[in-house]
Amino acid sequence: MSPNLIPVLTIDGPSGSGKGTIASRVADALGWHLLDSGALYRAVGFAAGMEGLDLSDADAVTRCAQTTRISFRDPKDGGETRVIINGLDATDDIRTETCGAAASAIAAIPSVRAALFDKQRSFRKAPGLVADGRDMGTVIFPDAGHKVFLTASAEERARRRYKQLKEKGLGVTLAALLREIQARDLRDAERPVAPLKPAADAVLIDSTGMPIDAVVAAVLVLVRPPRADR
Ligand code: C5P
Repeated sequence: MSPNLIPVLTIDGPSGSGKGTIASRVADALGWHLLDSGALYRAVGFAAGMEGLDLSDADAVTRCAQTTRISFRDPKDGGETRVIINGLDATDDIRTETCGAAASAIAAIPSVRAALFDKQRSFRKAPGLVADGRDMGTVIFPDAGHKVFLTASAEERARRRYKQLKEKGLGVTLAALLREIQARDLRDAERPVAPLKPAADAVLIDSTGMPIDAVVAAVLVLVRPPRADR
């Protein structure tokens, strides 16, 4: 099948809106592939940090984005998808707030985004793809048949992230997370290249106070409308 005919559901939104969880649950329900594009930016931020690069050195970080080998591996125990960077499992390393901030900084460099463009598009494989990120519906898959923009209040997003990081035993405070989330939202929304904004044809879902199952159902219904509507 030509890649352009393969169905795509894009789920964009700010950090902590639950995109990752929702995208993975929806991909499982549909039996489609999953692209966690944020993990690619995090991987480049991580690799640049390992190489001791100055994150504002656009040429050096772009070379790093072009040469870093990033792959995803299914977990053996049904847990989190493993992220392999240059042959090493860096799944936990890329989830730290420091790595999130590094990802956000390098993601503002246009040539870094260009370096990841083809890699992201290569995830479009039959029978379908669920892609989550910031610019999936606007830049990477503008022709996607289904687009969601998922959000939640900054306070709720900070609380969710706090819970996740605590469960992983990572030390953080709620106030610091809220500040970090607000700063990252602003950077992501104001950058000139691929700013965080809903695609004109995206369906907006505000998940504040919504249980995960309800959000999953609200997204699935877009792809698989109730029988009577088909
Ligand atoms: O989604 P996640 O928090 O893992 O993304 C980390 C950072 O990577 C974001 O803050 C954003 O700056 C960047 N990103 C991006 N475009 C994407 C996905 C992530 O700019 N499609």
